[in-house]
Formats: sequence, C-alpha cells, structure tokens
Amino acid sequence: MVFEWITIVVSYLLGSISFSVLLAKLLKGIDIRQYGSGNAGATNTLRVLGKGPAILVLALDVAKGIAAVWLGVWSGGWGSWVAAVCGVAAIVGHNWPVYFHFRGGKGIATTIGVMATLCFFPALYAGIIAILSIFITRYVSLGSLIFVALTPLFLLLTGFTYPVLWTSLIIAVFAFWRHRSNIVKIAQRRENKIGTKAKGGK
Ligand code: G3P
Repeated sequence: MVFEWITIVVSYLLGSISFSVLLAKLLKGIDIRQYGSGNAGATNTLRVLGKGPAILVLALDVAKGIAAVWLGVWSGGWGSWVAAVCGVAAIVGHNWPVYFHFRGGKGIATTIGVMATLCFFPALYAGIIAILSIFITRYVSLGSLIFVALTPLFLLLTGFTYPVLWTSLIIAVFAFWRHRSNIVKIAQRRENKIGTKAKGGK
C-alpha cells in the first residue's frame, strides 16, 4: 500500500509542473498568471505567447495526465482505483501546484490525458462534440465544460468501471468549479473567443 501512496504523491508532484508558467518565464520573463485570463493553461498561452508555445503546453499538460495514470497502472494494475486516483492527483497538482503557490490552471488538458488513458472511446466521443462546439462558438471554456460533462455520460452509455466513472465525475466537479468565472462571462457574452490576443494584464 505504501508504494501505491507514493505513486499518488508523485502524480500530484508531476501534475504540479506548470508548463505554461515555466514557458512564459523562459520565453518572455513574465508570469502568465498576470496576463490574458490569468489562467496557467494552453488556451491562455495561445493568447499570450502564440500558437507554437500553446501547442507545446497542450501536449505536455496532456502528457502528464497520461503519465500519471500509467504510474498508477504500474503500481496498482489496469482498472485499479490507484490508476484512477493517480489521474485525479495529477489534475489536482495542475490546478493547485505545490511549486507555484498553489495557483495553477483549470486542468482540462491534463484531464484529456487522464480520461483518454482511462477510457479512450467515451473521451473521444465527448472530445469530438467539444471540438465541434469550440468551432461553432469559439469558446474554449464551453468546449472544456462540454467535454467533462459528456465523458461520464458516454461512460454510462458504453460501459464503465466504478473507479473510472467516479474519476470522471470528480474531474467534472473540479472543472466546473475552476471555470466559475468563464461560466459567468459566457452567460454575459463577455467570454474570450479563441484567437483573441491578450491585451495585457488580466
Ligand atoms: O482549459 C482552460 C479553458 O477552458 C479556459 O481557459 O484561459 O479562457 O480561462 P481561459
């Protein structure tokens, strides 16, 4: 059991590596959390740093979700609670990173990595609808919320195990909580659309 707990803690520490914060510091010497939406994630990296850095941040944030689940699989086995909890731990790390004063992102890219590893097809179906919604509305935040809301639904429709279902529900709660300000802005039609450059401080 000690080994399983170690992998959960390591997953949290891995998730805490905030690639958008590191890249913004490295490329422009700025704290990305002071610019654009103030979020430490790929969408805000696109606004503040541009396409290339945003794609890199997206890939690395997804990769840490995948790596955390595989760490759990290694310690607890495929389909185990440990694998699911390691995924959740990586998202908690991304949202509340120990290395960056607990001010991180909204966890969506890492969630994509976690859910695509735990349940590929439900995540794929939810992802397709989320991407379509982003194309139509140009709101990444709305697409993110659609993704986390639909993944548990597709799990219920296509078959599930309890560790994965509970993980998808907990992750959805995290995501809606972290997108509170986006939800208000969407309702008021003030939400940033994808492709809009950051004007400066948040
Ligand atoms: O994944 C984050 C995205 O859903 C919203 O980011 O920067 O527009 O608040 P942002």
